Amino acid sequence: MGCENCRTNRTDLDDSSLLREVDKGDMFSFSLNMPEDIEKALSDCQARSFSSFSPDNILVCGMGGSAIGGDLANSLLWEEISVPIHVNRDYHLPAFVSKNSLVFLVSYSGNTEETLNAYKEAQEKEARRIVICSGGKLKEIAREDVVIEIPSGRPPRSALPFLFVPIVYALESMGVARKRSRDWKETISLLRQLRENYSPLTPSPDNKAKQLAYCLQGKLPLLYSTSPLTHSVAYRWKTQFNENAKIHAYVDYFPELHHNEIMGWEGKDEVSYAVVLLRDKGENERIRRRVEITKELLEGKADLYEVWTQGESRLARIFSLLFLGDLVSLYLAILNRVDPQEINFINYIKSKLNAVGEG
Ligand code: PA5
Repeated sequence: MGCENCRTNRTDLDDSSLLREVDKGDMFSFSLNMPEDIEKALSDCQARSFSSFSPDNILVCGMGGSAIGGDLANSLLWEEISVPIHVNRDYHLPAFVSKNSLVFLVSYSGNTEETLNAYKEAQEKEARRIVICSGGKLKEIAREDVVIEIPSGRPPRSALPFLFVPIVYALESMGVARKRSRDWKETISLLRQLRENYSPLTPSPDNKAKQLAYCLQGKLPLLYSTSPLTHSVAYRWKTQFNENAKIHAYVDYFPELHHNEIMGWEGKDEVSYAVVLLRDKGENERIRRRVEITKELLEGKADLYEVWTQGESRLARIFSLLFLGDLVSLYLAILNRVDPQEINFINYIKSKLNAVGEG
């Protein structure tokens, strides 16, 4: 990872008592356990089989922490599968869904109303359905379907491996995607190595996640992704910054951002921005050139940081950068003195909607 511009002398994040005091639900442990969670999610899947199917299209229905697995699957399989994967974050399904569609209905709690409604519509359309949840109403109404029940009792976004692995595993097992056992191994072992560096036990000067958190504190992060492989990762960074650190964050994508977003830099405003370029060795030559031009244009206008994927396989590259973002978001929460687990506004909205019942 190239993030040399963000070296500071701060060490606040090395205070383990501060981490314990702010991170009341121990989100760090959930995040740091990602390699073991991937392993567990894989071994849980291996006990199942999925009959082969050639869908016309694939839909992943879910919200928030339960939807991102669909985006990641899309990034992973971008160059590989010949049918589109669409992530549906809505109550309703698009008109193209039919009996020949494969629909994943993903809700960690099993009680998210948008996903429950999407389930009903998928059932009406007789689409092939796979449900992923830890319980709730979804598990009840989907008794007749393939239900992958995942471990309960943690915040959805911290259960990402359990929400993502079954999607890819099912596609592999149905013959829609190739099997990738070596890539899973590479990913798990790379994450174990990275954990040494990003862990709270690693002092600030040697810890890239802590360094980046210090640099982003008090800034509005603009996350610019350079390839379809990193697009979903950038979006995960944004949502983790929102939910864990309670800050705004903004995402945009190359090359599209050169056709609109870039004009925002011609104006003057009072916001203090930090641009983070999420980069991958597979990005194309024209994008590399575009990144260089962007750096020129942004000179003196914003702090600019670059982070790179690591590893060989697409899977390892995706997870290497996602893991960094998850840890940075937790360190930012500590610096902002906010409990990363708590999501009061999300819960408030859900309880208000529950109180008025179904519309
Ligand atoms: O991270 C979170 O807690 C949210 O983004 C939830 O994932 C989102 O509200 C949907 O809930 P669920 O994952 O239970 O379907």
